[in-house]
Amino acid sequence: MPDDLLRYDGRVAVVTGAGHGLGRSHALLLAERGAKVVVNDLGGALDGTGASAGPAAEVAELIVKNGGEAVANGDNVATPEGAEAIVRQAVDTFGQLDIVVNNAGILRDRSLGKISVEDFDAVLAVHVRGSFLVTRAAYPYMKERGYGRIVNTSSPAGLFGNFGQANYSTAKMGLVGLTKSTAIEGARSGILANAIAPIAWTRMTESLLPPEFEAKFGPETISPLVAYLVHESCATSGEVFSVGAGRVARVFVAEGPGWSSDDLSIEGIAANWDQIVAEQPYLQPTEIGKQATASLQAMLKP
Ligand SMILES: NC(=O)c1ccc[n+]([C@@H]2O[C@H](COP(=O)([O-])OP(=O)(O)OC[C@H]3O[C@@H](n4cnc5c(N)ncnc54)[C@H](O)[C@@H]3O)[C@@H](O)[C@H]2O)c1
Repeated sequence: MPDDLLRYDGRVAVVTGAGHGLGRSHALLLAERGAKVVVNDLGGALDGTGASAGPAAEVAELIVKNGGEAVANGDNVATPEGAEAIVRQAVDTFGQLDIVVNNAGILRDRSLGKISVEDFDAVLAVHVRGSFLVTRAAYPYMKERGYGRIVNTSSPAGLFGNFGQANYSTAKMGLVGLTKSTAIEGARSGILANAIAPIAWTRMTESLLPPEFEAKFGPETISPLVAYLVHESCATSGEVFSVGAGRVARVFVAEGPGWSSDDLSIEGIAANWDQIVAEQPYLQPTEIGKQATASLQAMLKP
């Protein structure tokens, strides 16, 4: 084995939703490289109904069979008790928690006119509240040891929008906000947080993607990025990366140069619309204070 492989010996990871698809692949890769892994999965259907201990147990058993260390957890990330139990199991079993990969997710696709409040809430509960709850439960342990790596799972559907996914897109863009604020708050405690926006062939997408995608878009094409982002040598935080079929790219939120007036009016906005929507030169504030300062400086310009 080459000795320049990035490894995770001595690190403890929680991967949520690791019974299938992307989470399973992340858990297998981290364990293969030496991490001790809590394999969480509620084991329900794609729409979040039902539960089974089977998928998490199967992945944990496979890791152990391959010579790694793992335990299965069947808790629900979307409840405070479930999220706390996942983190407690990591600490009770392996003594610490260094890595959280918030990956659990469900789908309830409907067009905007047909979507029920229940379908909206259920999707937000797993993706947004689940990621928040697991992060919140892990945070004090990471803070105490001055070390943590968190990856949240966003989606191109949230970053760029998609027909029939108002609930899912809302949740996935919400995770960008969670990631950025976690990164800002965690910085002083050595806690880094990033998000990925993947595209891969899993049970979630097999009916949506063209069949020829199956060979090139396997879950194993996503996990190396997740693993890199949770490695101790990675210093990046607060960023979002799209990843699929072997390509990785940074996605960033930027603000155009804008147009300012001391006497903003509807007509002034209409007359200067081209400048308002211009993209160059863009600003990339790393926190709200920097964005506000840039706006203020533009206003104060003679
Ligand atoms: N596959 C893609 O192309 C794609 C694209 C963008 C984002 N994502 C995101 O990646 C993540 C993984 O999706 P996937 O494609 O591997 O789908 P998947 O259905 O194979 O995996 C999701 C897993 O999450 C588990 N889960 C659901 N609700 C849970 C809960 N409340 N608590 C614990 N576990 C729960 C499921 O049982 C399932 O095993 C999701 O967050 C998904 O939204 C996937």
